Amino acid sequence: MDRYAVLGNPINHSRSPFIHTMFAESTAQNMEYGRLFCPLGEFVKTVDDFRANGGKGLNITVPFKEQAHAYATMLSDRARRAGAVNTLKFNDDGTVYGDNTDGAGFIFDIKRAGWDFTGRRILVLGAGGASRGILGGILDEKPLSVLLVNRTVEKAVVLQQEFGGIEVCSFEDLNCRSDRFEFIINATSLSLNSKLPAIADGLYKDARVYDLMYGSSSSTVFTEHAVKCGAEEAMDGLGMLVGQAAVSFEIWRGVTPEPQPVLDALRQQL
Ligand code: ATR
Repeated sequence: MDRYAVLGNPINHSRSPFIHTMFAESTAQNMEYGRLFCPLGEFVKTVDDFRANGGKGLNITVPFKEQAHAYATMLSDRARRAGAVNTLKFNDDGTVYGDNTDGAGFIFDIKRAGWDFTGRRILVLGAGGASRGILGGILDEKPLSVLLVNRTVEKAVVLQQEFGGIEVCSFEDLNCRSDRFEFIINATSLSLNSKLPAIADGLYKDARVYDLMYGSSSSTVFTEHAVKCGAEEAMDGLGMLVGQAAVSFEIWRGVTPEPQPVLDALRQQL
């Protein structure tokens, strides 16, 4: 049986085994998917051992995505652009393919919801690792414009230089402008602390909003607040978790699993 796992530290909380096991059942793939705890400083040894025992692929999570990027012998463009790898595929010829499915997983989830960024104005809040993961995917959809707003503007400028095709400003500047956006994406970590980004309530009116974070309910402080302020639709990031897993699964197995039943089951568990 082909073996896969999610590798990280810590790893106990990971939902990936649940998601991939459901994918494998629904697509009749003969495979198993487990959790692999990796001691800090032992990434290469842990991955080498897993491969030596017949492992075919890994998902990589915190804090090893950069080390996985270095471990891969071939990288997808999006992994190169992100500087981080969340999916490794071990080929029979000894090569190791590294990919990053976070951005594609986000777009996968957006499309599941019937949203379309093409020709639209997008506001992205936050310029940390989460933004870096999704910006390429957003730009590939050919939006009319992308405005990236961050508390530390210098970090937004770094992403602007790397990705091109985006505008950046501070929260203060945003609130002095009269721009409107069809989509507002919260890629800050604020919801983790039940805090809201400092943007004017009027911006939410008629917008579709997405929070990359998720919690035990299907809403976050951000999505709840946005709906109260008149947002047309609001989604949390659970679907992105399923989406990035679906894209990894496709890379390994060549079949695209159906996300909705897994998302429904996951939602019930939280
Ligand atoms: P990562 O590990 O994903 O890179 P991070 O760099 O801490 O995490 O990024 C988290 C994002 O949330 C950043 O955009 C961060 O803004 P800064 O770059 O200015 O730090 C944003 N963020 C976190 N706490 C915030 C707060 N209290 N107010 C505004 N933005 C905040």
